Amino acid sequence: MRQRQTTVTAIIVLLITLLPCCVKAANGVWNGCAEIRSGSMAMLLSSADDGSLQITYFGYLPATDVIDSTLTKKFRPMSALPTFGTDDVAQPMALQITHGDGQPTTNLQVTTYAVSEQERYVQHTFTMVDTLHRFEVHLHYKAYKHVPMIEAWTEYVNNSATLLVLNRFDSATLPLPQSAAWLTHLHGSWANECRLIEERLTDGIKTLFNTDGARNTQTTMPAVMITLNDSLPAEDRGLTLAATLAWSGNYELRIASQEGRYHQFFAGINPQASHYRLDSGATLVTPRLAFTLTNEGKGGASRNFHQWARDEKMLHRGNGTGDILLNSWEGVYFDVNQPTVKKMIKEASKMGCELFVVDDGWFGTTYRRDNSSALGDWNVDIQKLRDGLQPLIDIAIKHGMKFGIWIEPEAVNTRSELFEKHPDWALQAKGIKPTMGRGETQMLLDMTNPEVQRFVYSIVDRLLTDYPQIAYIKWDANVPLHNYGSAYLAADKQQNLYVDYHKALENIIHTIREKYPDVVIQACASGGGRMNYGLLPYFDECWLSDNNDAFERVKKQYGASLFLPANALATHVGSSPDHTTGRIVPIKYRTDVAMNGRMGLELLPQNMTETEKQQTKRAIADYKLLRKTIQTGQQYRLRSPYDNDGIAATMYLDSDTQAVLLVYQTTTDENTGSINLHLCHLPDGVSYMIEEKNVAIGETASSPNGKIVDAETLKTEGLTIPLSRQYASRVYLLTPVGRK
Ligand code: DGJ
Repeated sequence: MRQRQTTVTAIIVLLITLLPCCVKAANGVWNGCAEIRSGSMAMLLSSADDGSLQITYFGYLPATDVIDSTLTKKFRPMSALPTFGTDDVAQPMALQITHGDGQPTTNLQVTTYAVSEQERYVQHTFTMVDTLHRFEVHLHYKAYKHVPMIEAWTEYVNNSATLLVLNRFDSATLPLPQSAAWLTHLHGSWANECRLIEERLTDGIKTLFNTDGARNTQTTMPAVMITLNDSLPAEDRGLTLAATLAWSGNYELRIASQEGRYHQFFAGINPQASHYRLDSGATLVTPRLAFTLTNEGKGGASRNFHQWARDEKMLHRGNGTGDILLNSWEGVYFDVNQPTVKKMIKEASKMGCELFVVDDGWFGTTYRRDNSSALGDWNVDIQKLRDGLQPLIDIAIKHGMKFGIWIEPEAVNTRSELFEKHPDWALQAKGIKPTMGRGETQMLLDMTNPEVQRFVYSIVDRLLTDYPQIAYIKWDANVPLHNYGSAYLAADKQQNLYVDYHKALENIIHTIREKYPDVVIQACASGGGRMNYGLLPYFDECWLSDNNDAFERVKKQYGASLFLPANALATHVGSSPDHTTGRIVPIKYRTDVAMNGRMGLELLPQNMTETEKQQTKRAIADYKLLRKTIQTGQQYRLRSPYDNDGIAATMYLDSDTQAVLLVYQTTTDENTGSINLHLCHLPDGVSYMIEEKNVAIGETASSPNGKIVDAETLKTEGLTIPLSRQYASRVYLLTPVGRK
């Protein structure tokens, strides 16, 4: 009986939830409310009396709780897409259009709401129409079922007979749960990427933006965490929103705060020099804003992002792991030649590497001695590699390794055959002396031009057809879009350049992926310039920084891990002294730090000391045992290098309950001695065998190596870890050996 009652109640609740979606007033305006849920994230969107669409609730709510009036009464509703001319002029706008008749006012009425349910997500679409101007907006929310994540984006459709101009065209906006709020974001520069910044949000507008044109994560990342409910940002507690704009071009993220507690988040393409011209009949689809809301602080937010990345976005590596590679760049720079490379491969294979990547310097009809020539001429430089690439590939394969290659397909040097043949393919402002990038000769190709698109595609296609054994491509991008002008785009479409460049880039990579799904592709952009979710579905991993100094990398890797999973981050062992900072760091520390991601090497093995080689060999062998847990496990950042207490520690826990603990000293001016770490996230009832890994050559593993400790003790009493000298670091494998 009770059972029947429950079923009947459930049906009524379902009908009440669905009913408003079906209501359509006689005047063609949708009149209802729609609930969007993903995990414990809940949103309510409702039509207002004036026909506009409002977000009337957004918050953290267990899936079983209903969004009732006590919740909505406390929430200050905000327009789902604040639009110039009809929304409150006192607040920032998400949409501002100059229509064909010159009018800057847009009057959107929500006309329909549609829901479509798929196996992995539910997609909610609201259509809003400005009938006067025959302009239409589709606002989408894609709510994932297996991970708390919603993607929101818009499609702007010009149904009028004339061209219109999108002066601002955000992807989405979000009113945040009302409270004081702290912003966490990542800022940096070349070789100094992913620096963590935490600040209280004060009244006014905080803007994070990018205007590089080609790359967008070296200065500020298009990603934020916002800690709400009056808490300070913390790793394992506090209501936290994490959001990122999945886009590789210029962006603007704005948080408008009022009265210390009302915050509205706006995310979209940066409109600077991008007032987008939308032809009659054309549609512009904006990039997606992905967001999650958790009660488990920054750590919980990151784990949601990691899971979403692996399950839904990283279609090629996903929950798999990456090969340990040696990249030639910091080993030989442009001095790529057969005898040296041959030696590198042999040595790398002896140390256990699985892949060799020949970086810049292998190509060019004119000799590429430095960075000032040959980009665009993607033929093997036979002055350097007399017998071509094949012998290098053969050597790698003979030594049990795969082979990979570097390209920078979007760029051209003015000293190249390509530029001589197609000067109009380079982006440049008409009549203005172009600003040159790297080598004083580097420019970007005009990706909006279909001929250029075919050329860029053909670079990859030809390489992979001529050398089918190529297993890995490092796709670099070393210059900003300096010269704003396309010889291809019509005069009235020049403002579309920044946007159309990235749309074209995505299309090309998408096409490449369709033909070559198994080749691993790394997104590199002078280091970490392309660590974004716009490109992640096509690239398997990102190069984090040209700064390989392990001591600095601890902080960068921590920063990047806020949004990206370990199997998407290339983390390499560099030489000592480091080529960027000159810092001398012991090989044990360098290898331990490189384990916190997809491990690789970036040095000349021939120059390594015997101890360095032995340590690296040991590290690689151990990393192979730890790799699955690190690259695919749940990540728990136990101690932050930004807390200034001299320690950084991360634990990974995989689905077999195996754990890996990585601990680094982050100060050089004091002796840390021993530290105690509480391993709070281990599963109850499991006993662990603790094994120290990558023990320093010449030393023996010390306590707690070899102990068997139960999870409860590791959580409550913690694990005491010796870190007695400068640049101390420890790696532990925790193998489950018994269960209660
Ligand atoms: C910049 C990259 O970040 C480096 O790793 C290297 O590939 C160089 N470009 C090559 O020119």
